[in-house]
Amino acid sequence: MGYGADAAKRAGGSGRIDLRSDTVTHPTPEMRRAMASAEVGDDVFEDDPTVAELEERAADLLGKEAGLFVASGTMGNLVSVMAHVPRGGEIITPAEGHIPNDEAANYAVVAGAGLRTVRENPDGEMPVNDVIEAIQDSSDPHSAITSLVVVENCHAHTFSRPITPAYMKGLRAALKPSGIPIHVDGARLFNAVVGLGVSARDLVKDAESATFCLSKGLATPIGSVVVGKKDFIFRARRARKLLGGGMRQVGILAAAGLVALSDGPEGTIQRLAEDHTNARILAEALTEMKGVISPGHNAQPVGERLDPARVVTNFVLFKVEGGAARREKFLDELEKRGVLMIAYTHGQVRAVTHYGVGSEEIQKVIRASADALAASA
Ligand SMILES: Cc1ncc(COP(=O)(O)O)c(C=O)c1O
Repeated sequence: MGYGADAAKRAGGSGRIDLRSDTVTHPTPEMRRAMASAEVGDDVFEDDPTVAELEERAADLLGKEAGLFVASGTMGNLVSVMAHVPRGGEIITPAEGHIPNDEAANYAVVAGAGLRTVRENPDGEMPVNDVIEAIQDSSDPHSAITSLVVVENCHAHTFSRPITPAYMKGLRAALKPSGIPIHVDGARLFNAVVGLGVSARDLVKDAESATFCLSKGLATPIGSVVVGKKDFIFRARRARKLLGGGMRQVGILAAAGLVALSDGPEGTIQRLAEDHTNARILAEALTEMKGVISPGHNAQPVGERLDPARVVTNFVLFKVEGGAARREKFLDELEKRGVLMIAYTHGQVRAVTHYGVGSEEIQKVIRASADALAASA
C-alpha cells in the first residue's frame, strides 16, 4: 500500500496536514476490510475469536503469557496499576510521564495508589539509583508500600526517545532485591522497536507487564493491549470489568489490530520507519530556520539550535523564539497554511509524523513552517 498524497486523502480527507498527534490516523483500507468481515462473539464471555487471536498475537510478540484488549492506553495503564498495586500502595513513575501528567490522576482516584516521581534524564530514563532511593521503607508504618515502577517507552516528553533493553536490564537487576514489578507504558512501543532495531520481546523482557497502543502510529481506530503473566491478566480483566471496559462483539475492532500486527505487507509496524525518516527530515529543516530553537526541556539548553540527532522516532519538539504569544501566532499562521501542530508542555511546539503523511506532505510542512515563522516574527 502507498503512503503518499493518496494515503493522505484516505487518512484524513480534510486536505490539512495534521501533525498534532499520531492518534489522528484513520484505519488503512486493509483494516476496514478486516473489520467488515471479522468473526465476532461476546467478549465478556471470552467468546470473541478475533479478540482472542489478537490477545494471543500480542502476548506472543511481546513474549508474555497472556494479553487483554482494552479501550485505550489510559485504560491499559490503569488496569495494570490496579492489578499490581494494593490500595494505598505507591507507584514510581518518570516525572514527565503520561501517568502522572495526562491520566486525570486515575491512579489516585480509581486505584487508590500514591505516586512518587523521579526526574528523567534527556533520554527519558529515570536514573536507576534515583529509582532505588525513591523506594519507601516498607517496615516503617509511616510509609506507603512501593508496589510498582513504571517506564514509559517511547518517552514522549523527551522527543519520544526509545528506552533501550540495556536500561531495562539494569533497572530489573537493581529492583531484584525488592521484588518490585516493572510496568512498561509502551503507548509507542513499536516506534521504539523500529527506532532501535530490536524486538518487542527484548524491550519488555525485564518487565512484568506492558501495554501498547494500536491506535497511534499503528493506525487502528481504537484500542490497546496489555500483556503479562496469566494471573496478572486475570486481575487486569477484573479491573477492566470494574471500569466498565468489558466490551461485547469487539472483534470488529480487534480485527484492525490483527492487521496492524501482521507480518505481511498490510502490517503497520515496519512502516513506522517512514514516519521516523520524515520526522528527522522535518527536524533537519527546522534546525536551519531562524527563530527555531531547542525545546530546552530535558534535552538541550534553551536557545541552542534544535539538534535533529535527538529525533529517532516520530516526534519533533522545538520552541519558537519570542515566547507564548509568538508560539500562538506561529501555530495560527501554520493553520492558515493548512498545517496543524500543537502547543506542548514547557512552551514547546510538537509535530508528530504518522501514516498518511508522506514525503511530499513533509516538504509542504517545511515550506509552511518557514512562511509561518516569517509571518509571526
Ligand atoms: C506515553 C503515553 N501513554 C499512554 C497514553 C494514553 O493513550 P490513550 O490516549 O489511548 O488513552 C498516551 C497517549 O498519548 C501516551 O502518549
